[in-house]
Amino acid sequence: MTVALVTGSNRGLGREFATELLARGATVYATARDPEKLDLPGAIPLRLDITDPASVAAAAARATDVDLLVNNAGTAEFVEPLTTDPQVLAGLLDTHVFGTLRTTQAFAPVLARNGGGAVLNVLSVLSWVSAEPLAYYAAAKAAAWSLTNALRLSLAGQGTAVTALHVGYMDTDMAAHVAPGDKISPAAVAKLALDGVAAGDPEVLADELSRNVRQGLAGGVPALYPQFAGA
Ligand SMILES: NC(=O)c1ccc[n+]([C@@H]2O[C@H](COP(=O)([O-])OP(=O)(O)OC[C@H]3O[C@@H](n4cnc5c(N)ncnc54)[C@H](OP(=O)(O)O)[C@@H]3O)[C@@H](O)[C@H]2O)c1
Repeated sequence: MTVALVTGSNRGLGREFATELLARGATVYATARDPEKLDLPGAIPLRLDITDPASVAAAAARATDVDLLVNNAGTAEFVEPLTTDPQVLAGLLDTHVFGTLRTTQAFAPVLARNGGGAVLNVLSVLSWVSAEPLAYYAAAKAAAWSLTNALRLSLAGQGTAVTALHVGYMDTDMAAHVAPGDKISPAAVAKLALDGVAAGDPEVLADELSRNVRQGLAGGVPALYPQFAGA
């Protein structure tokens, strides 16, 4: 029986993870920066801001029975990379990279004590390819991808499996600017990702866009950025 902790579970994909985990019979710590915003009957509400070391330490001290950590929390900014203050990138790194690392470090001993368990990191198709208004977000997700691979290597020693979820646009607040036909249901993504965790998959590619871009990696810059194909 899984005991899961989901970061950023008051809305979006995190809320779908918590809902699906409850439906699968798990005990769920539903965490949020503001727990007042949580609306998940059956879950254990917990305050957690992954950019705040004290908040992360308090959550790890409280949720000592966790055997699945879902690093879902994230933010996005729309920028023009040549002119936007680099501090905006620092803020995104603080969440996607330092926050994910800090939370995983805090929960690694908890997972070890509970039989190893698993970590699920929510990444993106933009871990692999950049797109101009999301340039800083893509840089943060690329770093989070590398970090995920490093954590998989390190956590293997204590029997903790690490699954990376890559997905394109989902129908959440973060992708409110994207046309409805171009984004997929976060509930479906949550199910797919949790199936991947249950199967011990190191990587889940949740949509066609992610699968296509992943395949394009072998083709290098010309495959991923057709405008430079003839250069
Ligand atoms: N939507 C997409 O198209 C898409 C595509 C690929 C990957 N993703 C990734 O999927 C994950 C979930 O995003 P979403 O689409 O569900 O976005 P969302 O609807 O904007 O939800 C983001 C969640 O993360 C929480 N959060 C942000 N910073 C936090 C922090 N420092 N500590 C704790 N919680 C924090 C938010 O809490 P508040 O309510 O307090 O702000 C909210 O619950 C993110 O990692 C995102 O990068 C999204």
